[in-house]
Amino acid sequence: MRKQIAAANWKMNKTFREGQSLLRELETGMPQLTSNQSVVVALPFPYLGMLKLEIHSKSIQIAAQNCHHAREGAFTGEVSVVMLKSIDVPYCIIGHSERREYFHETNAQLADKINHCLAADITPIFCCGEPLAVREANNQNTFVEAQLNESLFHLDEAAMQKIVIAYEPIWAIGTGKTASSDQAQEMHAHIRGVLQKQFGSTVASSISILYGGSVKGSNAAEIFSQPDVDGGLVGGASLIAEEFLKIVAALKQ
Ligand code: PGA
Repeated sequence: MRKQIAAANWKMNKTFREGQSLLRELETGMPQLTSNQSVVVALPFPYLGMLKLEIHSKSIQIAAQNCHHAREGAFTGEVSVVMLKSIDVPYCIIGHSERREYFHETNAQLADKINHCLAADITPIFCCGEPLAVREANNQNTFVEAQLNESLFHLDEAAMQKIVIAYEPIWAIGTGKTASSDQAQEMHAHIRGVLQKQFGSTVASSISILYGGSVKGSNAAEIFSQPDVDGGLVGGASLIAEEFLKIVAALKQ
């Protein structure tokens, strides 16, 4: 059975103190997870090291929201994978649509980030997903396939098995407009099919594919019940403990 993951993405929200109390609420309310389930919280950079020390529950793992595509060097203000590794950050979100759109990250740069993460044994949560115009022209399958191709297809099978994928249709992120569970399933099955062609069925069937885009307590169970949906990457609703805990409780067993 594939790993079922509820991943929170706080983005650029919460002061340190607010973050501390949100994590405390999550720890207190966290249901007993099966060995198949994981909860990941992607924190703002300045809090990673300190908040990691405050998490006592083994059920919650932290993630970075980004990393730089170079290994090290003169990149003022940036954070490298080597730095993340040095404070034992186990996950890193790569290629979130906000990074692609506002910071012009390219598929080729994302391939470099993926390589750095894998070399450091950090699990990348690789985001893909189409903008509204692409969906309206019904070109979403080709669009997402190109994103996977250009950032992941250089990997061998063993490396590919270490990736988590998050499908996040851009038109559903932060808009309150969720993809229907059928739309999510359709794209997740497409992604798995693309992975199967490239890496074979053992790899394709073992990779967790999360859905992201306006997931909340009230729609998580319906979306997660789809056969190819292995959990969610959650923005807005992850900022409220009660909401995120409902999402965790909706993971498949
Ligand atoms: P949202 O964000 O849940 O607020 O739509 C999802 C994401 O950007 O990962």
